Amino acid sequence: MIKVGVIGVGRGRSFVSSAKTAGMELVALCDTWEEKLDAVGKQFNVSTYTDYDKFLEHDMDAVILANYFHQHAPFAIKALEAGKHVMSETTAVITMAEAVALVNKVEETGKIYMLAENYPYFKYNQEMRRLYQAGEIGEMVYGEGEYLHPDPVEVRNKRAAGFLHWRNNLPATYYNTHALAPLMHITDTMPVMVNALCIPYSDKDEQIDLLPKKSDTSSVILTRMNNHSVVRTIGTDLRGHGNWYRIHGTRGSMENLRTMDPQMMRVRHDRFELKEGEVEEKIYKPEFPFMADVANTTGHGGGDFFTDYYFAEAIRTGVQPYFDVYKAVAMSAVAIQGYKSAHENGAPYEIPDFKNSNAVREKYKNDNWCPMPEFRDVQPNQPFASVYGDLPITEKAKELARKHWVEIGYRGEDV
Ligand SMILES: NC(=O)c1ccc[n+]([C@@H]2O[C@H](COP(=O)([O-])OP(=O)(O)OC[C@H]3O[C@@H](n4cnc5c(N)ncnc54)[C@H](O)[C@@H]3O)[C@@H](O)[C@H]2O)c1
Repeated sequence: MIKVGVIGVGRGRSFVSSAKTAGMELVALCDTWEEKLDAVGKQFNVSTYTDYDKFLEHDMDAVILANYFHQHAPFAIKALEAGKHVMSETTAVITMAEAVALVNKVEETGKIYMLAENYPYFKYNQEMRRLYQAGEIGEMVYGEGEYLHPDPVEVRNKRAAGFLHWRNNLPATYYNTHALAPLMHITDTMPVMVNALCIPYSDKDEQIDLLPKKSDTSSVILTRMNNHSVVRTIGTDLRGHGNWYRIHGTRGSMENLRTMDPQMMRVRHDRFELKEGEVEEKIYKPEFPFMADVANTTGHGGGDFFTDYYFAEAIRTGVQPYFDVYKAVAMSAVAIQGYKSAHENGAPYEIPDFKNSNAVREKYKNDNWCPMPEFRDVQPNQPFASVYGDLPITEKAKELARKHWVEIGYRGEDV
């Protein structure tokens, strides 16, 4: 068994459900929210720590990062320095400078680094990869990835305690990996350039006055991939919950269904180029390629099992996983460079390839441009979380948020 410690007992808990089958054992937990930490520690009967440095001294092989979204890189770097393999929740880095530092550290330590991106491992996304790799639709020329996750105000507040919580301050381009990663995985392409626009909350949206949120409702990111194709990704707060992926190739297209069962897929060929044995349209429900029994019982459409599985496999074999540090920072770069682009009405920004390039690392090693409050407050000329400026929070939203935060036992200074 690979001994694993988890930081962040919110999302971090879900790792446990498939860890054993993947060959991993939870041995320690770390969180600064003591009540939650104690409860989860008792539930799994493992050691608990409120101090990350002490936690890293625990006897373990690997660390899973499920702490705050925008603080993964420094925690990953510390874990790598302590000789641990790292699997990080999205996102890998929050600045381009962090991308350089993280890539350097993974190379220097030789430890396994994986982004825990689970959406590529949905049944239909794995099936799309199988079909694509077999040449079913030729080469991607255009793709779409959509991750839409609207929620009622109460749910959102209870998931984001504190005015400075990352979910209340995250620009609309930043939660992009669930939309983009499946397209990269299906087609083995990498992003090279972005143009993005952010979409503000409409004043007709009843949530606008009720949420303590400083960022925009959504963004559209156009990404040029390294095979010259273009993909469009959207997320996250648009109404119409769901995940959809679609790829147009040089001889066909495929997608998961928008109507009825979104677990089903549609593969489409045009009549004029049908090959023998092919049909114009196939609609069916795919199954996992392997370990379906376990995957079907785990979260996020089985994706949570496959991230555990591939992380453990990488540690056992010593071979970096598919979502290695280079793909991880490339996706974060799409979010960051995309947000720069959105500030200039969609101007193009490059997505540098950090692999094998000292010039790229030199260029970005001091690029600390970042909209998150703790970066903005310590350096000049930083962007706000919305491209439309420093959005006000209404008194009504503050009052409602405090009520919800008290209900979940939050005792921070904001209540
Ligand atoms: N892949 C997925 O499907 C999926 C789903 C949910 C969340 N996530 C990701 O998981 C991460 C965590 O999400 P969440 O919703 O649980 O976030 P959260 O903000 O609710 O929880 C983060 C936890 O980390 C703890 N923490 C923060 N700083 C710490 C520190 N210095 N030391 C110890 N503990 C610390 C907090 O107390 C909190 O309990 C995020 O990156 C999120 O994007 C991924």
